[in-house]
Amino acid sequence: MASFEYRNGSFHAEDVSVSAVADRIDTPFYLYSHAALTDNFRAFDGAFSGMPHLTCFAVKANSNLAVLSLFAKEGGGADIVSGGELFRALRAGVPADRIVFAGVGKKRSEIQAALEAGIRMLNVESREELAAINEVAGRMGKKAPIALRVNPDIDPKTHPYISTGLRKYKFGIAIEEALEHYREARALSNIALVGIHHHIGSQLTEVQPFADALARIVDLVRNLRAEGIDIRQIDVGGGLGIVYKDETPPHPDELAGAVLPLLDGLGCTLVLEPGRALVGNAGILVTRVLYVKRSGGKTFVIVDAAMNDLTRPSLYGAYHAVVPVRERGGKPVKADIVGPICESGDFLAKDREIPPVSSGDLLAVMSAGAYGFTMSSNYNSRPRIPEAMVRDDNFFIVRERETFEDLVRGEQIPELLLA
Ligand code: LLP
Repeated sequence: MASFEYRNGSFHAEDVSVSAVADRIDTPFYLYSHAALTDNFRAFDGAFSGMPHLTCFAVKANSNLAVLSLFAKEGGGADIVSGGELFRALRAGVPADRIVFAGVGKKRSEIQAALEAGIRMLNVESREELAAINEVAGRMGKKAPIALRVNPDIDPKTHPYISTGLRKYKFGIAIEEALEHYREARALSNIALVGIHHHIGSQLTEVQPFADALARIVDLVRNLRAEGIDIRQIDVGGGLGIVYKDETPPHPDELAGAVLPLLDGLGCTLVLEPGRALVGNAGILVTRVLYVKRSGGKTFVIVDAAMNDLTRPSLYGAYHAVVPVRERGGKPVKADIVGPICESGDFLAKDREIPPVSSGDLLAVMSAGAYGFTMSSNYNSRPRIPEAMVRDDNFFIVRERETFEDLVRGEQIPELLLA
C-alpha cells in the first residue's frame, strides 16, 4: 500500500489523516512515514545482499535522530560530513564502526572526535588534510583508517549544483594523481590505508555513470594492489535519484545489477552512501493556505511555509509536486505557490496547475523528506518547523517546533549597548 495516498478524498500518511496532524500540531510541518523509510532501506540494502556491504545513510539528507535510529536498527550506518553529524549519528545509536566521514574541510577537532569514537574510516580529499589526520592520530597514539576520495571525472548528467564527479569541482583527488597520493599516504606512520571513496553527484537517473565511475575505481584498486597497497573497502558514495515529477530513476536492484559484477572476485566490502533514495519520498511538507491573491494577471497562493523551510525550489529551481490535502474538484488554475518571506525567490512552486484552493486549505508538498528540514533556516526569524513521524495509525513528534526563545538562544546584548 502507498505510504501517502487519498482515502475518501482525504490525504493520508499510512493510516493517519494529514489534516488530523495539522489540527494537533498546527502548520507547517514535515511528516515522515515509518513504513516508507523502512521499505526504502530494505529495498536498497537488500539489493546488495549478494556481497559484503554496508549501507551508510547520508545524514545530510535527513538528520533527525528518529530517522537515523530507524536505519541503525535496520543494520545501516551513517555517512557524515561534520562533527555535528557525528554527534547526531552516535546519539541516535549508530555504531561507530558503521560511520564514514567525508567532506573537503574537516577541522582537527572533528578529526579527533571521529578517531576518539573509533569510526570506520575517514574519506580524505587532499594532501594537507591527510597530513592533518596523520598529525592528530599521532598525538592520540592511534592509526587513522583512511580512504582517499578519488574524483573519477565522470559526468553524472544531473544539476550542476549537485554534480561532483567532474574534474572542475572541488571534490576528491583527480584520478590520474590518486596513485601518487596513495604512495605518499603509505609513508605516513599514523595512517592505515583501508579504502577508496568516490561520489559523482546526486539525483542520478541513469545507471551508466555509476558503472563508468566504478570501473575506473576498480582499475585503480588493482593497480594499488600491484604495489602492495591492499584496499579492501570500496565506498561508491550516494546519488541514486527519486521521482519528483516524471523522472525514471533506476530501482536499487538495477543499480546493484550494474555495480556488483564489477566487484566480482575483488574481495572488497562495498560501502554505499544513499541519502535521497532512502528518505526523499518518505516525507512531505504540510502547509496551509493563508491568502489567495490575484495580481497583474497572475494568481499567487500564499502559504505559511517558505523558502527557509524548503529551500530546494528557490535554490535549484527544483520541482516538488503540491497536492491539496482535501481532494478538490473544479477547473485547475495556474498559480505560483509562495511563502511569506521578503524575497521574490521565495516560492515552493511556479506557474503550477493546481485545483482551485482557498484560504485555510491544507497543501502537501511531496518528496520533501530529503534535503528538506536539514537545509532549513531561521531566515526572517521564522522558527524552524516540527517534524513528525507516522507509524500505522499513530504519529509522533520527532522534533518540536522552535519557539521565539529558541530564536535568540545564545544571543547577548553587550553591556556597552545597555548603558
Ligand atoms: N555521499 C557524499 C559524499 C555526498 O556528498 C552526498 C551528497 C551523498 C553521499 C548523498 O547523496 P544522495 O544519495 O542524497 O544523492 N542539497 C542537494 C543535494 C546535495 C547532495 C550533496 N551530497 C539537493 O537538495 O538536491
